[in-house]
Amino acid sequence: MVRGRVGSGSEFAVTDLAQPLVGRDRELEVIRQLLREACAGSARFAFITGEPGIGKTRLLRELLDQAESGGVLALRGRASEFERSLPFGLIVDAFDEYLESLDPREFSRLATDDLRELSAVFPSLRPSPRRVGDA
Ligand SMILES: Nc1ncnc2c1ncn2[C@@H]1O[C@H](COP(=O)(O)OP(=O)(O)OP(=O)(O)O)[C@@H](O)[C@H]1O
Ligand SMILES: [Mg+2]
Repeated sequence: MVRGRVGSGSEFAVTDLAQPLVGRDRELEVIRQLLREACAGSARFAFITGEPGIGKTRLLRELLDQAESGGVLALRGRASEFERSLPFGLIVDAFDEYLESLDPREFSRLATDDLRELSAVFPSLRPSPRRVGDA
């Protein structure tokens, strides 16, 4: 399990964190269970939906807090309906900054072809252009 942090920048209001979460015991139990299963190695997907202002973002904040306090790497990606034409937009938003923060040697186990394919999606994996005068 990778240990890490939530990406920089936040859409969560600071005042939200001061307010206790009310009446979400059932949802929290589901989230905790999914997190446990994900940490055990099974991919899990949660779809949180509801009326505007019902508390979707607040619940996600709770999920991130619980993941982080358990030492789990938690990354955030955002997308809007206007970005539908961007392939993998949500995934790139979630992963690209994190991938850029890693030591390039982390990718040395990947085959060149795999890396080339991945770099078509993640700009951070593209080789940086050589400067004039570099050997
Ligand atoms: N269970 C809760 N307990 C306490 N405060 C809550 C709870 N759910 C939501 N809130 C508060 O209500 C406000 C609106 O919640 P939130 O922003 O999470 O809603 P949302 O569903 O994400 O809204 P939108 O659809 O506009 O994105 C926030 O200030 C949030 O902290
Ligand atoms: Mg929201």
